[in-house]
Amino acid sequence: MSDMKKELLYTGKAKDVYKTENDDEVIIKFRDDITALDGGKKDTLSKKGIYNALISSKLFEILEEQGVSTQYIKLIEQDEMLAKSLEMIPLEVICRNIAAGSLVKKYPFQNKQELNPPIIQFDYKNDEYHDPMLNDSIILALDIVNQETLDKIRDITLTINKVLCDYLKERTLLLVDFKLEFGFDKDGNIVLGDEISPDTTRLWDVETLENFDKDIFRKGESGVVDAYHKVVTLVLTEDEKDKWNVE
Ligand code: TMP
Ligand code: ASP
Repeated sequence: MSDMKKELLYTGKAKDVYKTENDDEVIIKFRDDITALDGGKKDTLSKKGIYNALISSKLFEILEEQGVSTQYIKLIEQDEMLAKSLEMIPLEVICRNIAAGSLVKKYPFQNKQELNPPIIQFDYKNDEYHDPMLNDSIILALDIVNQETLDKIRDITLTINKVLCDYLKERTLLLVDFKLEFGFDKDGNIVLGDEISPDTTRLWDVETLENFDKDIFRKGESGVVDAYHKVVTLVLTEDEKDKWNVE
């Protein structure tokens, strides 16, 4: 446990955010808790927090290298990320390359149908209202962000999609869909926050379409942590695996 952590600022379904001595920085602790179905299905899976912290850190590093501004500063423990403080925007920005999940439940898409151009969807991050889907007019009327910010978020999301699709495909994973959260830094810049992990993405094997993400848990199947571990072994370099003691 890092001794840089001060008081707990926020606790979510799978992560805790702590203050540090520096007001511009927080520590995000990735817990082993896993939930689905709006929190209706819960479990605690040993090492899940570590694997999600390692995967998120790696993907944030790749995005930073490609000019995307992220909250990530560095990993300070296997499951603790030092990050920039952000004022989070209550939007779940979902980007879809292949039809799956709620999209095929709610609309007449074929399961596994390719979506080109990708679909970008905004859900309201609001537990009381169960994260309803928004459109531009509702976002503006609720004064969540202005149109300029929304347009920038769309552009950044498409860039992130391109960078991550390429990176993951080289490592035999298809990025089916994912969810992002953004915030403002102290200078008012839009910055990618939260996490990008198998909790917040659908990742399929490029050949077999086997999934390596939270859908395994949503379906009540076993092997969730093994799948997350597999993603770690695919995205980290050998040196990174040695550094963080990943077998
Ligand atoms: P969905 O098909 O259930 O709408 O999910 C689309 C993507 O967004 C999928 O990769 C999982 C991710 N997601 C979250 O990370 N958090 C959520 O609360 C939801 C509903 C989806
Ligand atoms: N994130 C939501 C929950 O934890 C829904 C999901 O990912 O399935 O309940």
